[in-house]
Amino acid sequence: MRSSLIDRYRDRLPVGPATPVVSLGEGDTPLLRAERISERLGADVYLKWEGANPTGSFKDRGMTLAISRGLEQDARAVVCASTGNTAASAAAYAARAGLQAVVLQPAGAVASAKLAQASALGARVLEVRGSFDEALAAARALAERGAYTLVNSLNPDRIEGQKTAAFEIVEELGMAPDVLALPYGGGGNLCAYWRGFTEAGADRPKMVAGEAAERATTVASAIRITSPAHAVGVGEAVRASGGTVVPLDDEAILDVWRELAQTEGMFCEPASAAGIAALAHVELEPGSRIVCVVTGHGLKDSETAARLSSPPLVVDADPDAIVEATR
Ligand code: F0G
Repeated sequence: MRSSLIDRYRDRLPVGPATPVVSLGEGDTPLLRAERISERLGADVYLKWEGANPTGSFKDRGMTLAISRGLEQDARAVVCASTGNTAASAAAYAARAGLQAVVLQPAGAVASAKLAQASALGARVLEVRGSFDEALAAARALAERGAYTLVNSLNPDRIEGQKTAAFEIVEELGMAPDVLALPYGGGGNLCAYWRGFTEAGADRPKMVAGEAAERATTVASAIRITSPAHAVGVGEAVRASGGTVVPLDDEAILDVWRELAQTEGMFCEPASAAGIAALAHVELEPGSRIVCVVTGHGLKDSETAARLSSPPLVVDADPDAIVEATR
C-alpha cells in the first residue's frame, strides 16, 4: 500500500503517535530530467512534477498535515480562501476526515475545473465579491471567531507539510540542487522549500522565483495575488540564497507553458511555468543543476488550454481526408 507523506517523514513533522493521519497518498512525486530545457539553458534541469499529487497540485503536501492536525485538535470545520488549488485540496482532505470545508473564491477569477472539483468533493464553495486578498482577509476574520480552522498557508502546519518536497529532492539527487526555480504567488511554497533545504542540512540552493508582473490580472489565475502573505519570508530566503524574484509578463509564462507541454510532455497549468520562465533572466553557471517546481496539473485550467490551442478540425472517417487534414 502507498504510504502517507506523514508516515514517511514522521520524525521531521509536528505529529505524535496519537495524530490521526488523513492521507490520499500525497507526495513522493516524480523528479524528471528535462532534456530540451536543459539544452536550451545549457544546464542540468529537472522537473519536480507536483501535478502528480492526488488533487493535482502541490497543496496536498501541506493539507494532509493541516487537516490531520486539525482533527487531532478537535476541529469541526475548516475554511480557506483560494485561487482554486488550495480549495480543491482542502475539500478533499476535509471530506476524508469527515470535516466541513468552506472555501472562499474570488468571484469570476477561478478556473472552472477547480470550482467543480471543490464542489464535487462536498465543500461549500462561496464566490466572494472581491479579490483573493479580500477573500483571505475574510477567511482569517472568520477563523478568528473560533468555529473554523484556517487552512491557508498562514497555518504553520501547511508549511511544515510542504517542506517535504525539498527532502524528496535532496534524497533523489543525493544533494540539494544549485538552483530551485518556482512560481511565486503568496510565497508559502518558497518559504516551505527554504525550510526543507535548511532542515535537510544540505547546501541550500539559489532560490529563483517567477511572479506575474501584472499580479492582479495575469492569465496565470493561480497566482493572481496582489499582496503576498509570505513576502517577508520570501525576501529573506531569496536574499540569503543569492537568488532573485523575476516579474514576468503573460507571454513569457505562456511560452514556457507551451514548451513544457510540447517538448517535455508535461501539461501543467500556466502558473506552474513561471519558475522556469524566470530562469531566462538569471545568470546560470554552465552545467548547473536546477530543479524547477511544476506546481499544478494542466487539467486544472482546461479553459485556458483550450483557448490557447487550435480547435480540432472536423474530418470524415476516411484515411485520405485524415492525411489531408494533417498536412
Ligand atoms: N502554482 C499553483 C498551481 C498554485 O495554485 C499556487 C498558489 C502557486 C503556484 C503559488 O504558490 O502561493 O505558495 O507562492 N495557489 C494558491 C491557491 C494561492 O489558493 O490555490 P504560493
